[in-house]
Amino acid sequence: MTTPDPVAARAPAKVNVHLGVGPLRADGFHELHTVYLAVSLFDTVTVGPGDGLSLSVSGEGTGTGSGPGLVPGDRTNLVWRAAELLARHAGVPADASLAVTKTIPVAAGLAGGSADAAATLVALDAFWGTRARREDLLDLAARLGSDVPFSLVGGVALGTGRGEQVTPVLAAGATHWVLGIAGEGLSTPAVYGELDRMRAAGRLPDPAGPVPAEAVLAALRGGAAADLGAALVNDLQAPACSLRPDLRRALRAAADAGATAVLVSGSGPTVAALAADEGAAVRMAAELAGVGVFRTVRAVTGPVPGARLLA
Ligand code: C5P
Repeated sequence: MTTPDPVAARAPAKVNVHLGVGPLRADGFHELHTVYLAVSLFDTVTVGPGDGLSLSVSGEGTGTGSGPGLVPGDRTNLVWRAAELLARHAGVPADASLAVTKTIPVAAGLAGGSADAAATLVALDAFWGTRARREDLLDLAARLGSDVPFSLVGGVALGTGRGEQVTPVLAAGATHWVLGIAGEGLSTPAVYGELDRMRAAGRLPDPAGPVPAEAVLAALRGGAAADLGAALVNDLQAPACSLRPDLRRALRAAADAGATAVLVSGSGPTVAALAADEGAAVRMAAELAGVGVFRTVRAVTGPVPGARLLA
């Protein structure tokens, strides 16, 4: 018997250009209307032969443990769970070595863990020859996490439910961003919990449902950066800033560097600064790298495709 060749897949980070959060549901999740935009920052997962599963993680922000800012190297990693789930679904033994190479910062609100899980599903589906249907992969992805289906789909998509129901939407062209990662990672449940506390205390309006995404969808169809900038929404920005007051300074620094608009990405602490064009993004990245507020600064563009095999 010949040993199968390793297979690699990569998946992108995301920015939520609209994140409207409704009330807490009985299942512990919040109802969302969100618009995901996949951006050009990728993690790669390489799978090869193994006896049982093994996992190694290298690159940006890696280490061992389980707190925000650390990538677990064991079965609690979403990559490991993705492999077990696909093996069970397809009825094949869960035999593979998994190697994750990260460039997406960890616990940053950029869906790095979801990207890893999506890339794992795509790589192992090819490596094991399981030929899962697209709908089945999306269903497995949804079981792994709210953002994982979008990491499979990529591009620009409307997310509803808890974010796991994704519908691709139209964008007129490329958008250019600078991502600035300020300080240590933030835990997503902690940020949602802070939103609930702020709403219960009357510090934020307590809506009956998530804010609809029409304005941002129209701006994406139109293709003007200024319109997109005016339409950005993130209901998790106030709670992220409440937990990490230094984020306000980071948002100000990005605005002062000439951003068309700034917002916190997802549950933070990444600051996403929208640029007028690619040149402006490169200039802004250079300036923000020097202000001493961000530990990592990246100029990115989107939309880019979702998880796919590398040749
Ligand atoms: O789905 P995922 O595992 O990424 O969610 C992590 C946590 O974020 C959930 O356990 C929940 O606390 C919070 N969350 C939420 N509402 C959502 C998505 C996530 O409250 N729509």
